[in-house]
Amino acid sequence: MLKGERVSYNVFAMGRMETIWAPDCSEFKPDRWLKDGVFVDPESSFKFPTFQAGPRICLGKELAEIQMKLIASHLIYHFQFTMQEKNPPMTYRSIVFRVRGGLPIRVHPRTH
Ligand code: HEM
Repeated sequence: MLKGERVSYNVFAMGRMETIWAPDCSEFKPDRWLKDGVFVDPESSFKFPTFQAGPRICLGKELAEIQMKLIASHLIYHFQFTMQEKNPPMTYRSIVFRVRGGLPIRVHPRTH
């Protein structure tokens, strides 16, 4: 590394690297974040830099995370979502991560 050289990182790639996470990191295993059924402390921001890390870390990180959890838990509690398409969705990159052609789903109210 020489003085003046530029350093960058790719959050998308880092989130999918087996060397950072685990060999099964691309599998959907929500339980991996739980210990005795309880969510354990989040990973280091340097490992998961979606909100940046260090002095430049997002000041709204906790608020954004609470909002995401509130909305997701509310929707999942009240509705069941079924994907129409059998194949995995094709994505493309923009400032946010988007699904090519949209993601048609059926939404059914849950009966509790
Ligand atoms: C999913 C939602 C969010 C993501 C992914 C996100 C991501 C980020 C990132 C990557 C940065 C660093 C930008 C840089 O290095 O220049 C940042 C900074 C910042 N974010 Fe967020 N953010 C989110 C939501 C929010 C919310 C809800 C708030 C406020 C309520 C917020 C307030 C801020 C502020 C004030 C900074 C500047 C921090 C500083 O430079 O001291 N963010 N955010």
